[in-house]
Amino acid sequence: MKQMIIEGNNILSGTIEIGGAKNSAVALIPASILANGTSVIENVPNISDRDALLDILNILNCESNLKQDKLTIDTTKLKNSVIEESLSSRMRASYYFMGALLGREKFVEIYIPGGCNIGTRPIDIHLDGFRALGANITIEGNKYTLKADKLIGTDIYLKFPSVGATINIILAAVLAEGKTIIHNAAKEIEIVNVVDYLITMGANIEGAGTNEITITGVNELHGGKISVLPDRIEAGTYIILGALCGKDLKISNIIPEHLEALTSKLKEMGVNLIINKDNIIVNKVNELKPINIKTLIYPGFPTDIGQPMSVLLTKGNGTSLFEETIWENRMGHVPSLNKMGANIKVNGMNAIINGPTKLKGCEVIATDLRGGAALVIAGLAAEGTTIITDVEHILRGYENIKGKLTNVGAKIELKEI
Ligand code: UD1
Repeated sequence: MKQMIIEGNNILSGTIEIGGAKNSAVALIPASILANGTSVIENVPNISDRDALLDILNILNCESNLKQDKLTIDTTKLKNSVIEESLSSRMRASYYFMGALLGREKFVEIYIPGGCNIGTRPIDIHLDGFRALGANITIEGNKYTLKADKLIGTDIYLKFPSVGATINIILAAVLAEGKTIIHNAAKEIEIVNVVDYLITMGANIEGAGTNEITITGVNELHGGKISVLPDRIEAGTYIILGALCGKDLKISNIIPEHLEALTSKLKEMGVNLIINKDNIIVNKVNELKPINIKTLIYPGFPTDIGQPMSVLLTKGNGTSLFEETIWENRMGHVPSLNKMGANIKVNGMNAIINGPTKLKGCEVIATDLRGGAALVIAGLAAEGTTIITDVEHILRGYENIKGKLTNVGAKIELKEI
């Protein structure tokens, strides 16, 4: 178990370089299975979710070679379609092996994925999509077996525009016979990144980034190449940190248009932001207005930035509302923030935040990835020492968080306990 110790209340300045998007990378790596050849993924973030996926590739007899952030995957010797629970349960996104292996091998056995405790996280929309393509699915306890003689393209309407289901159905459909049209598809930019990769492999896909995606099946895919797009959630977390304790803190290697839902809200609060072509410079200001945020599907305010944003809302001069609409359990960090001195009342999926309040360091627990990140930025803004336990949640999705923050003046220690 790891613990993070933060000495807070320092001004942070300098540059934080943003890495590749976790939510793209965790789909791009399994997507490589569909190619019968060697693929290259660049700008792969150095996070523990990456390592969990590489371990799965290994047992599938696919060779992977990682040189810094460049990952080469050779899938020509793929020979297994069974993923043990000890491997699949390390991360929820291992479910992308369902779509990829079903697509290539027409068979997969996998155990129900683990992941953050932010809601019940059903996968019924994924499974309905696979069934519509012709898969037969058996569920025994937490073991899922998916089989098909062949997959045949069809019209699939998603009851909710799920990111995971949209990608998983695309993965299963690229090698299917005929045309699949996904209606009410999710529009997240990470989906476009995955589709761009599949197109370099020879897939025929149109409409990624809109709510109707058309996949025309092809017989075979060859090796492809892609660069993981910048992580808008990592970027957003550090931009919020800059609003709490930055002095010309530069968040670089980003695509500012992907962050507009956040930056428009920060401007509404009165945060001092300079938005450039591929970076944002942010400064702490003394007076912040209270605002309301409501998380939505893309391009709305991202659910993954709601928890970090709630920390900034404790500094608003009055009452702010944080309304979560995607996950039932996004408020796991609130008891810790209140222990640090915040005044937040949770009512179901909403939080009422009264500010401004001073934050004071104390011992807190990371209950999930983004809630944990919220505690890191709260600790950096707080007076005194904050000790965060269960830091593994955070390391799943933030590459080199200690190094990146230390570089800009933060005092952070990571300790094995
Ligand atoms: C992805 C992101 C996650 C982000 C979320 C929403 C990855 C690896 N993770 O998660 O960081 O918070 O998008 O932007 O990309 N749902 C169902 N049935 C399903 C699937 C989803 O009911 O089969 C519901 C979920 O319970 C949730 C909503 O749909 O309420 C959104 O889920 P989804 O878009 O699928 O999120 P993930 O892809 O799991």
